[in-house]
Amino acid sequence: MSMLEKALNRARQARQEGKAGPIRDHQEPETVSQTGSEGIINPVYTHTKVCRADHALLERRGVITPDFHPAIVEEYNLLRAKLEAIMIKNGFKSILITSPGPEEGKTLTAVNLAISLSREASRTVLLVDADMRNPAVTEYLGISKGPVLFEHLTKDAPLKDLLINPGLPRLTVLPAGTPSDYPADLLASPAMKRLVADIKDRYPERTIIFDSPPLTAFSDGLYLARYADAVLMVVRSGVTKENDLIHALENVSDRPLLGTVLNRVKKDQCAAYSYGKY
Ligand SMILES: Nc1ncnc2c1ncn2[C@@H]1O[C@H](COP(=O)(O)OP(=O)(O)OP(=O)(O)O)[C@@H](O)[C@H]1O
Ligand SMILES: [Mg+2]
Repeated sequence: MSMLEKALNRARQARQEGKAGPIRDHQEPETVSQTGSEGIINPVYTHTKVCRADHALLERRGVITPDFHPAIVEEYNLLRAKLEAIMIKNGFKSILITSPGPEEGKTLTAVNLAISLSREASRTVLLVDADMRNPAVTEYLGISKGPVLFEHLTKDAPLKDLLINPGLPRLTVLPAGTPSDYPADLLASPAMKRLVADIKDRYPERTIIFDSPPLTAFSDGLYLARYADAVLMVVRSGVTKENDLIHALENVSDRPLLGTVLNRVKKDQCAAYSYGKY
């Protein structure tokens, strides 16, 4: 058995032994969700800012739009379908996207998975940028931000003022910002616990995705893992080292692992690119 298989087994065993309980707190309105007769949700953004993302800019940054390279959109839809099956079976509503090291594709995966999930008319998605080391979700989406996560945690900025709809139906973004305080302390704070309880409880049809900093460099991901129902590990093809992946998996071994995304696989290694005219 390889070191990686052993680490996965240890992670599986630890997950079977422990479980974190929910935390509850106050509620504030963000949107009015309108559900049609066929279960189609069309939220009306009463409090949430709407800031339309420019589709050409999204494409340049690798963010999927309806016109994006179909093979790539399909890769994310495939990921969505695989995750959904596990999430429905286990009742998971929130996912932490993480990776062992920097620049492995956490944020792009978080953004594109959030978009892919929000295209399903029966759910809404909240994408929380919890990477206060290198916040990048608003940059990927090309949207401007007002008050951000750390200001909610340190200055009590109201949640309803933080949220942004990037002009895509059923998707809301909570931007991070870069605090002067130590981010891990903020993520461990009672204010963060209250926020997570609040966003988790608010809408039953909502999936929450947390973007995060590298797992092996900072403790932030360990705190965030406590808040998410399950973890999705991103691995960069040809770059992520096996030992770093083992270490990262061990760090979150008490949380359910949804799976691992092998990111940035070269075109000639990926069968989907050779399908049909693509
Ligand atoms: N599948 C992909 N194909 C091509 N480029 C990608 C892919 N995934 C990520 N990238 C590029 O790699 C760089 C890092 O991606 P991303 O910002 O998602 O990584 P990250 O893990 O969030 O980084 P950090 O640790 O700094 O937060 C970006 O320039 C992004 O555009
Ligand atoms: Mg990132």
